[in-house]
Amino acid sequence: MSTPHLTHVTHPLVQHKLSIMRKSDTPSVQFRQLLREISQLLAYEATRDLVLTTQRIETPLTEMDAPMLAGKKLALVSILRAGNGLLDGILELIPSARVGFVGLYRDEDTLEPVQYYFKAPDALGTRPVIVVDPMLATGNSSVAAIDLLKKAGAKNLRFLCLLAAPEGIARMKEAHPDVPIITAAVDSHLNDNGYIVPGLGDAGDRMFGTK
Ligand code: URA
Repeated sequence: MSTPHLTHVTHPLVQHKLSIMRKSDTPSVQFRQLLREISQLLAYEATRDLVLTTQRIETPLTEMDAPMLAGKKLALVSILRAGNGLLDGILELIPSARVGFVGLYRDEDTLEPVQYYFKAPDALGTRPVIVVDPMLATGNSSVAAIDLLKKAGAKNLRFLCLLAAPEGIARMKEAHPDVPIITAAVDSHLNDNGYIVPGLGDAGDRMFGTK
């Protein structure tokens, strides 16, 4: 179900690719490739409301006012490290995007995010900002990252993920009701360790072959 706060991308290609990613025997190389492909399909939805202007151009036949993206270049912000798996695909689609990084790791006891890095593009307040992280689990990291980005001036944000847990969606909606979420799936629940069920395991480990 999609609402103004949540876009669930149910496209069959996205769903098929995601199911392969979920399988525990899918190797990292295929996992990364599928993530790259899905990231582009999700980015297509996440950028649906970008503002257009027109530019006078000449085709081989005539002149026309052709639609072009308006305003400042979009900013993509990856929540390290798993967010990086979504970056390359989206950059292929939007090569002029500026890129930022928020380094947060999850304290495995408290499940609270701890910040270790922050670097954002300039003029954040004038750019559409897409924050990317494959897993919206507790929502703690995404809420913390968006807090930091808002403090740095960001006003027009959206959050793109592969999987979302109902707990994370609720937390985001409470903390940042102005930030729409774009996801390929809304799973059942979080387990006691904060993992999404049925999920796909640790996205960073699946991507990079670590444990
Ligand atoms: N982060 C992951 O990588 N996987 C989960 O299931 C939850 C958080």
